Parts: sequence; structure tokens; C-alpha cells
Amino acid sequence: MAENSNQQPLLEFLSELETSFALSVPVCLNFVPSFLMEMQNGLVQHLSNEHLQMLASHVTTRPTGSEQGKCLSMDLGGTNFRICLYDFDQSKYPTSGYFILKRQKYLISNSVKTNGLLIDWMAYCTLQFLNDYYVDLQDLETETSSSSAPSNSNSDSKETFRCGLTFSFPIKQSSISSGILQSWTKGFQGPEIVGKDIVSLFQQKLDEKGANIKIVAITNDTVSLLVASGYFNQSSQMSIIIGTGNNGCYWESLHNVKKLGHEAPESTKGKEMVINIEWGAFDNSNAIIPLSKFDKSLHDSSPTPGFQKLEKMISGLYIGEIVRIILEDLVSSGLIFSESSLISPTVFSPYALDTEVVSKILSFPFTENKRFPLAESNSVEDFTRLGSLETLREIIKSNIYSDPSDLELYVIYRVCSVVTFRAMILCSLAASSVLLKRPDVLSLDHSPVPRIIGIEGSVYNNIPGFSSVLSFVVNNVVKAHIIAQKNQNKITSNNQTIITPFNVFETFELDN
Ligand code: GLC
Repeated sequence: MAENSNQQPLLEFLSELETSFALSVPVCLNFVPSFLMEMQNGLVQHLSNEHLQMLASHVTTRPTGSEQGKCLSMDLGGTNFRICLYDFDQSKYPTSGYFILKRQKYLISNSVKTNGLLIDWMAYCTLQFLNDYYVDLQDLETETSSSSAPSNSNSDSKETFRCGLTFSFPIKQSSISSGILQSWTKGFQGPEIVGKDIVSLFQQKLDEKGANIKIVAITNDTVSLLVASGYFNQSSQMSIIIGTGNNGCYWESLHNVKKLGHEAPESTKGKEMVINIEWGAFDNSNAIIPLSKFDKSLHDSSPTPGFQKLEKMISGLYIGEIVRIILEDLVSSGLIFSESSLISPTVFSPYALDTEVVSKILSFPFTENKRFPLAESNSVEDFTRLGSLETLREIIKSNIYSDPSDLELYVIYRVCSVVTFRAMILCSLAASSVLLKRPDVLSLDHSPVPRIIGIEGSVYNNIPGFSSVLSFVVNNVVKAHIIAQKNQNKITSNNQTIITPFNVFETFELDN
């Protein structure tokens, strides 16, 4: 596209895009009470994945930080399967609290995600790990267990290494050592595993392969993160994963988990349990957050249309895809990339544009002292004045279009900003709601509030500005609600202000 060609249609496209991704103040104000109501419903009854399932983790003890010893852990995430041997000891490792003695990461291929053989593959990786590191495991705690292996073992019982499994999907648990898969998320498929106990299935495969490992606990990834963050910071109240998927969990008073049917009040007094919210399912009924036509198109071509609405607006699996769908639309409208032979096939292939590329694009022109990168670049002229465009141009050239004009760089940058900014605000609102679910454990002295949240994930770690927007919004939303509750005011607004990268800090600023 020539630099001086008529920019008007393109700028109009951007402006419409910004409107369809915008969150108005009333939307933000409705979000928190609706989220709280859905949480409450999920604590009272067992709900399907159309709602917040509020899954009981059966983790009931907060770590103290004095836990010590070696342990083996497995972690099935949305992208990798990891096996690690840890040594925990805060006195030996004062800065980290632990040391990873051995670790191995296995990339989950697309075929493994969908061919129904995931559990076999996990057992195969485990066997490889055991072969590579058997000697290092020798001083781990073992137990004697009977094996259901048909042929590989010579006797009925054997010494096995105890291992915990982190499983980053919704599981319904009746104990810490079993978990029935409720549904697949994050593009995984395989109906034969849904409704079955993951621990039994996996244990059977391990036994069949002669891997002497006993799975003694299974937890959702948010739950493992909360326990881990509580090991370092005893005031941790909740955790959030913002990676391939997006979800949170928190410590709930056991008395409130009505669906577990604890009749006698004394049996729950003072006790707590970690609840996996499965918040990716929030607003599946489309009552709160407006969907843009690009979100609709993402849902239409997904294996789970209409499900995981919040996750599909926030997490790493989807941010790159939404950006790609928008770019494809711009190309088909003839607004960008006039030379079709220079367009990367990535633009036309579903899920080919990695969110990592979006993070890299947004790293320009972000600098440490700017709270959100777009704040000073609301026109192409401002944008080009922010600094050299060369790094950005190289990223676009190798991933999207091999000869981008400055205007096209600007357009791509803004598309990425619009999509990720909405993700940041929505994730912050979900986090605020969860903190407000237990005002008894909150205090306004907890400043900044995110210190009591354990957060992990590639989107949070790599997208510039994510942590500062989250910190700011969560602090202010939580404080606004606590102050309003104290003064018995309702937070209401007829204000139609649209929250944009430019006014986020001012919009949520409170006079107090
Ligand atoms: C998806 C899963 C959830 C997990 C999250 C983060 O939302 O359903 O269980 O915690 O991804 O990995």
C-alpha cells in the first residue's frame, strides 16, 4: 500500500473495530455482580460447563512454607507436558524456596491433542523420563503398590515413586487422588476420555508400560499454582493462569461449598477448600460482554462454539487467532497488503498466528516507563515518531507480510492492541470478582492487591503492559466495591464512557 493512498477507509475500519471490542463502564459494573452470582450458583449445585462449575479440589490445607523434601511432579498444560523432580527447602534455597533437580518438557503435538491417545502418550513420555533419570530418583520416597500390569512385572507388588499430577482441564473430584474429566477445553478432543477418571486411566497405562510411578494426587493447574504461591507467600488468596488457557481458583470457606452436603456446621467451622472456578465459561449465555463479529467467527469455527466465552477473549490460544481473523478480513476487504504473493500463509490458516508474535508486535514501542504502550500513539504520525520501526517491521515481515508500509505496521499494531487490551480488562474484572467473593480475607492494606494473587502464564509474562493494567484495575475495582459496601452504597453508573487504552487509568481512578 502506498504511504499516501487514501487512509480513510482503513481508519474507519480501526475505529469500528475499537468500538466493537470496547467495554463500557456499565458493562464493567455489571460484570462483577454477575460473576459473583454465577460463583454462588456453582457452589450450591453441580453445574455443567455452560456455567461456572466451581469444582471442589479437595485441597484443604494451606502450605506453611516449612515443607521440605524431594518430590516428583507432572504437569499437563495446554502446550507442554512437563515432568520435574524438585527439592523443596526454604532454608537451603532462600530466594526460590526450591531447586529443580531434573526437568523434561514434551511438546504436545496437534495430533496428540485430538487423536484420543493423549494418556498413552503421557505414559510414554513418563517412561522416557524414568529411563533418562532413574538414578536421580533413587532417594525419593516410595511406596509398595500392587500392579495391574498384565505382563511387564514379575511379581504382584513393586516399589513405586509417588507423584502428583497437575492437569489443566476441568475435573470433578471426590478426593484428591481422582478426577473425572468434565469436558475438554483449549482445542483438545477425544470423547472417549470425557466422563472418566484421569488418574485411573493414566495409572493403568503407566502400569501396562511398567513405569513404577504411583499417581497420588491430581489438581487443576490453577490449584497447583495457588498452593505453590502459598508456599512463598502465606497471604495468597487466589491464583490465575493466563497462558494457553485462562482460569482462576481461590480459597473458599468450606461452609459455603453447599453442594458437598456437609450438614453439620461444626464439621466445616474454620475450614477452607480451594475451588477451581473454571471461569473461562463465564457469560456463555451472552448476557454481559458484547461479542464482535470476529469473536463470533472464532466461535463458529471452533469445536466448542458458544463455550468458554471468557477464555476465548483472554487466553493465548485465542488472542493470536482473533488478530488473524481480523487481518484476514482486512485483506479480503482490500484494505491492506495489496501484493497477495507477499502475504504469509499464516494469515489464512486458522490458529497459525501465534500469540507470541502478538506479544512481540506489542513490544514496540513499549518502554518500561509507559504503563500501556498505545497511550501515546493514537495516529499513524504519532506512531512513527515513537521510535525506529525496524524491529517491528522485521517481525511483520517474517510472520505476516513481507513488505509492510508504515501505515500497515501501525494498523497491525493497533489491531493487536485492541484485542489484548480487552483481554487485560476482562481478566482483571474476573480477578476482582473472585477477591470480592471473600471480603473477609481482604483488607485495603493489601496494596497492591495482586500481591495476594499467584499469576502465571505466557500471556501474562510476555504481553507488555498486562501486569500493570491488571494491577491497576484490580486494585481500583476491589477498593471501589469495598468502600461502597462499607458505606452501603451500590456502585452504579449511567456513564457510557468507553474504556480504551487511553483512559483506563483515569476511568477506574477513585476519589477516596
Ligand atoms: C482451561 C481449562 C482450565 C485451566 C485453564 C488454564 O480453561 O479448562 O481447567 O485451568 O485452561 O490452563
